[in-house]
Amino acid sequence: MKNVLVAGGAGFIGSHLCDALIAHGDRVFCLDDLSRGTLNNLGTVFANSNFFFERMDVGDARSLEAFMRDKNIDYVFHLAANSDIQASARNPQIEYSATLSTTWSILSAMRNVGVKKLFFASTSAVYGEQGDRASREDDALSPISYYGAAKASSEEAIRAFCHMNEINACVFRFANVIGSRLTHGVIFDFVNKLTADPTTLRVLGDGSQTKPYVHVSDLIRAIVALHNQANGMDVYNAGVETSSSVSFIAKEVRKEMGLPQARIEYGTEKIGWKGDIPRFRFDLSKIRATGWRAELTSDEAVRRTVKEVLRCKR
Ligand SMILES: NC(=O)c1ccc[n+]([C@@H]2O[C@H](COP(=O)([O-])OP(=O)(O)OC[C@H]3O[C@@H](n4cnc5c(N)ncnc54)[C@H](O)[C@@H]3O)[C@@H](O)[C@H]2O)c1
Repeated sequence: MKNVLVAGGAGFIGSHLCDALIAHGDRVFCLDDLSRGTLNNLGTVFANSNFFFERMDVGDARSLEAFMRDKNIDYVFHLAANSDIQASARNPQIEYSATLSTTWSILSAMRNVGVKKLFFASTSAVYGEQGDRASREDDALSPISYYGAAKASSEEAIRAFCHMNEINACVFRFANVIGSRLTHGVIFDFVNKLTADPTTLRVLGDGSQTKPYVHVSDLIRAIVALHNQANGMDVYNAGVETSSSVSFIAKEVRKEMGLPQARIEYGTEKIGWKGDIPRFRFDLSKIRATGWRAELTSDEAVRRTVKEVLRCKR
């Protein structure tokens, strides 16, 4: 049985990962400062005797190092980061402290304790604006948001720590991830906006932003299958070939909430906020070669998630 640490494990993706790792037979140590995650997300694993939770800021390298040593950690899944990209567009310091510093702190603790295996949750935002060109893992990184910059810097730090300390790191660059327990993002925002005002849904941007949305169940399957196979630092794009537009999502949310008369008011800009990437595509040949592929298309993932988010609210 492996002792695995999940940093950011009370968040949306992290909590699904904790569920899956327990089912996989690991002993799971979940650390989260609960800045954005909640203990409710861990409802299903909390009672399991192989699951342990501690509230901790993983940017506190000293406490983290002591924890890793004490618990004999074999593998670290690093998902602790800021996930409110609009908030960091207003205050870039958030990305420094929540996204970049947590990575440095985790890498330093791993180095000092001798932990040799890491999974890192990165993002398509590291590629910046590529239009309709499908981004490949070996493309140069050119982020345009503070969030993308903090993730790209984190990846470079991981590369150096891997080289200097014989660490093996599996890095996934996620597309937009959606599913039950969402804590943020367009579906979550639309549901909240229509709950507050059932007459009008105001959309950031002109609704034409079109991105691939991968369901969290598909993503978790890929992480469980591939996290242990890295030799040095191995990077995968993780997503789907298909995409969904913001206007499609707005109409799905309106329909599922039973509010067909609600007016959808679009903005005039192509982007939702400065730093937003209005369209992107992944080249998925590398992850497809492992045998993994998402079961749900982007539109299917959106439809399922709208239902899941609404079920949670009721
Ligand atoms: N959801 C997506 O579409 C998406 C896309 C690309 C990448 N990612 C990455 O995946 C990871 C998980 O994202 P998510 O969508 O589940 O977001 P989330 O906000 O639900 O989860 C992040 C978790 O990290 C915790 N956290 C933040 N700072 C911390 C700190 N200093 N110490 C301890 N815990 C801390 C939060 O409380 C939260 O529970 C993040 O690294 C995010 O950047 C997510």
